[in-house]
Parts: sequence; structure tokens; C-alpha cells
Amino acid sequence: MFRVALGIAGILLTALPVSGDLGAALRRASPTKPVFVPVTPMTSSVVVPLRRVSGHKVEGGEAVFFVGDINVGNPPQQLTVVFDTSSGDVVLPHRACHNTSCLEHRRFSPWESLSSSDVNHDGGRVDDRVRLARGRVKRDVVTLDYSQSDLGDGQVKGVMVRDTLCVGVPQACTNLALLAAIQMDERPFRSMPSDGIVGLGLPALTTGPTSSLLGQLFSMAPQVLPQFGIAFGQDQGELHLGGHGLARLAGPLRWFPVDHPDKGFWQVAIRSVRVGNHTVDNCQRGCHGIIDTGVSRLGIQKHTFPKVKAALVSSRSRGRCVGPDLIFDLGGMELTLSSSDYSGSDCKPQVGRLDLDEPEFVGVYAFGGTMLRRYYTAFDWDQHKLGFAPLVRTSSVSSHRGQPIPDELAGVLMV
Ligand SMILES: *[C@@H]1O[C@H](CO)[C@@H](O)[C@H](O)[C@H]1NC(C)=O
Ligand SMILES: *[C@@H]1O[C@H](CO)[C@@H](O)[C@H](O)[C@H]1NC(C)=O
Repeated sequence: MFRVALGIAGILLTALPVSGDLGAALRRASPTKPVFVPVTPMTSSVVVPLRRVSGHKVEGGEAVFFVGDINVGNPPQQLTVVFDTSSGDVVLPHRACHNTSCLEHRRFSPWESLSSSDVNHDGGRVDDRVRLARGRVKRDVVTLDYSQSDLGDGQVKGVMVRDTLCVGVPQACTNLALLAAIQMDERPFRSMPSDGIVGLGLPALTTGPTSSLLGQLFSMAPQVLPQFGIAFGQDQGELHLGGHGLARLAGPLRWFPVDHPDKGFWQVAIRSVRVGNHTVDNCQRGCHGIIDTGVSRLGIQKHTFPKVKAALVSSRSRGRCVGPDLIFDLGGMELTLSSSDYSGSDCKPQVGRLDLDEPEFVGVYAFGGTMLRRYYTAFDWDQHKLGFAPLVRTSSVSSHRGQPIPDELAGVLMV
């Protein structure tokens, strides 16, 4: 899901009174200073197991997401998130949020975490004297606008809370400023199969200097390779941090520079788009493939959408969808989706229309689950590069530990 706009305003808020059992527990436990849990920094590569969840109906099938678990705070509160490469913040429903989108998901309660402290978007404390703000205080309220081609567009409004976030096997932890949402629009968040979102986009997409999970993890672990990789399978997937799932690669990774890394998206330049032998987009004004792990279908910008969709005609033959390949030419490598990759069970193309504003977004193709089930995608955080390799085709990604990159392979991966 694309983060398309960001707003930050200092707003006078009335910090909600904490009542009932929670209030009593808190009065017993609440220290004025945050209790910092010793944070285990990342010392090796980490694997985050992902599971496939589906449900929400979209045209021609259903939206499919890959979700994983995180632990936030002390004692840890477990929440399920989508790891999203096209936004930058960690967004979780706040316990104080009473919108349906929040109530139907697990909410994060800073009041029940001894390590939470209220901060502004720059990471500074809202009130130096107390850990959590009380009464009427002026603090930053952040709004984030998301665009999600499966489920629609919507806004989140929230406050920043600094806390510990742990992820993966072996568990890696860091401190960061997360956005605790006090309002979440019905669309798209109510139908999301996850409680929240963990953005994996580049720093330009994050609200504040300490808001990015990867930025925080990598800066605390200089000995770890500042890269990550994603593989989706039939029922499961893996997010590799600080290394790659080499056993999943059917060939060497080919690397491409990230186009406009200052915009924060993991995007590569596309030279042309073909359906079979027919060029459907010559990319005269420029084309970009943006990796979007937060969306299931292939997203296509509104102007080219009708033409590309019309060209993707599949028909059923011997129980399979048969039709032309969809090919993205990156110059030196082609990313190819067969009709069985891009078609739903009814053989209709699983494509979503992107309504992104121009000229900020021109010729965008969002490479979501459809592409990530075919290609292992590697991301270089420091050098702003994107790598692709065909995935070993198996019925499902088995959960195995990621390996640190051996020296003899490091060269291959750096190509
Ligand atoms: C969310 O809740 C706020 C009040 O807490 C309300 O003003 C807003 O309209 C709600 N939004 C939705 C989408 O329900
Ligand atoms: C595409 O072109 C190649 C060679 O030019 C030809 O062999 C092939 O049959 C063509 N495919 C289609 C689907 O037209």
C-alpha cells in the first residue's frame, strides 16, 4: 500500500483518562520514567515467517496478504502486521481508538507497556516529566494517507509513541517511534487481515528520524549486511533481514539501482511492457515498477490500465489458464508473469487500477504478491539497489533459517 501523503500538526489533545482495571493496574505499576528493556540488537540474519491470509473479495478473486507477527513493548504485546515495502512507518491501532477498524483488530496499549513513552515526530518526549502524557497537552498528531489498489484509499490519524519492537527468529529488537492510530478509516483498514502495518520503505517515506524499523535495526548492527529479501510462496512466505533466503533462489540475483531513492519507494525503471510479442506500454514518459508487498494484485496506473488489462486474455484449457506472458523489460533482465501467475481461478487477470496523482507517479506498475510469488526480491538499504532472481518453484515456501551470505556467494549477490 502506497503512502501517498503525510501531515504533521502540533495539536492540543486531551490525553484520555485510563479507567477501570487498566487504570488500577497502571497506577500500581506506572513509573514516571520509562523502563528501558534491554534491547537485543540484531547480531545475525533474521527470518520473519509470513503466512498467507485471504478473504476480502476483490474483482476476479480475493485479496491475498502475507502477514507476520511482531512483539511491542514490555511485557510484549503481540500484533499481526503486513510488512509493507511502499510505506515507511510502523502503524498500530491505539488502545484509545474506537473506530470499527481498530475495534475489530488487536490494539496496542502504551498504558500497559512499561517501556512506552509519548514522543513527537522528531522523537523528542512530549513531556519530560512523565512517560505518558496526561491531561491537556500539545503534541504532534500525524496523518498518513494510504492508497491500496485491492481495498481502496484511506487515512490514519495518530500520535507517536516510542517503544521496543521485536521481530523474527532469532528475535531482533530495537527502539523506535511508532504511530499509534487514534482514528483509522473504514476503508481500507477494516478489511485488512492484519492489525497494523510495518513499513519497509526507504527513509523518505517515514515520519520521523527514528520511525523506520529497518533504519533502527541496521543502525544498531553495523556488522549485519544492510539488506533484506522477500519470498512469497503458496501458503507461506519469508522476510529475511540482514541476509537472504539463498535456498529459494533458482539463479543469481540481478541488481538494479533504485530510481529516485529520495522518494522512498523501492522502484526500478522499466524500459517497456509487453504482452506476448505486443508492446502495450513503450514507457515514453518513463515507467516504474514499485515493489509493494502490501497489495496482492498487480497494480497498473489508471492511464495504461484499460489497455494492459484488455491485452491479458486468458482462456481455460485442460484446467489451466492459457494466455500470453506479461513481460517487464528492465534492460538486461525481463520479469515474466505467465497467464497462470496473473490470472484468477476464473482466468480473469488479477490487476488493480492505481489512482495515483501525476506527475508525481507516472507509468507506475505495483509489483505485489503476483510478482513476489515468482521472483525473490532483494533490497539493499545502504546502496539503494533492488535485486531479482527467479524463485525455486515449490508448492510452498518451507520455513528455513536464513543464512548469512558466504564469502564466495557475496560476489554473486553484489553483481
Ligand atoms: C473514527 O472515530 C472518530 C471519533 O473517535 C470519528 O470522528 C470518525 O468519524 C470515525 N471514523 C470512522 C471512519 O468511523
Ligand atoms: C513472437 O515472436 C516470435 C519470433 O519473432 C515467434 O516465434 C512467436 O510465435 C511469436 N509469438 C506470438 C505469441 O505471436
